[in-house]
Amino acid sequence: MKITVVGAGAVGASCAEYIAIKNFASEVTLLDIKEGFAEGKAMDLMQTASLNGFDTKITGVTNNYSKTAHSDICVITSGIPRKPGMTREELIGINAGIVKTVSKSLLEHSPNTIIIVVSNPMDTMTYLVHKTTGLPKNRIIGMGGALDSARFKYRLAEATQAPISDIDGMVIGGHSDKGMVPLTAHATRNSIKVSEFLSEERLNQVKEDTKVGGATLTKLLGTSAWYAPGAAVSGLVQAIACDQQKMFPCSALLEGEYGLSDLAIGVPVILGKNGIERIVTIQLSDAEKAHLHESAEGVKKTNGLLEL
Ligand code: LAC
Repeated sequence: MKITVVGAGAVGASCAEYIAIKNFASEVTLLDIKEGFAEGKAMDLMQTASLNGFDTKITGVTNNYSKTAHSDICVITSGIPRKPGMTREELIGINAGIVKTVSKSLLEHSPNTIIIVVSNPMDTMTYLVHKTTGLPKNRIIGMGGALDSARFKYRLAEATQAPISDIDGMVIGGHSDKGMVPLTAHATRNSIKVSEFLSEERLNQVKEDTKVGGATLTKLLGTSAWYAPGAAVSGLVQAIACDQQKMFPCSALLEGEYGLSDLAIGVPVILGKNGIERIVTIQLSDAEKAHLHESAEGVKKTNGLLEL
């Protein structure tokens, strides 16, 4: 199993690290345009192998896509991250050009690969990869909901003062501050609805804190986060590589599901060896449905800025 991660910045490198630590892939190729950068990150990571007990071979390359040949899964993290005060949507101008070139270059050498898109604005970049490559929709997956759900669970655990392993919850919708739809009514603590433990007001606070999860970190760090994004990507990669048939909310091209079409947005999907094995449609309340549709309008507006 060969994985390529494009972009050796903080998100790309932590993604490679988590993939390696989970020890399911034989090879991870890290590619960056900055001379020697990916090579350095790969060497540093490889020097943790004996300490962290993994056998995955991580190799770094400078912009040489021939070294990514025959990858089973490619992760695109390249592009600029947001700075404090910026929205993910503001990155579209620069990142669209990068993501277009990167996806084409990857496919030249790995025509059968599954692509995971992390670059922001993620739902729009996922849609762009669909439009640019014309790949079957199961092979293009946007990473956002897995990360947003992890942040949701963190906030729920904090609010309920429960261990995080007791908590389950999911965020669907667009990967943006306004677009996220945390499914509070479905969230549970050890199978009991969290609304049994939290007031409506506290639950609303959890929802709001979740939606600005990335922005909160960007403000604290001066750039966007990397540990949780890297860990979330590694979870998706593992589900595909190990054919786990696990459910994650991911940005997927919709063709009528949830009454939406011609966009990629976060919905629950099953991930296995074919990428998106299927989209799961669940019953949403009227309020959740309205929020999802509002979120889709926001994503479509950003998609409208693409030069396709
Ligand atoms: C975040 C970036 C990865 O939410 O979109 O941290």
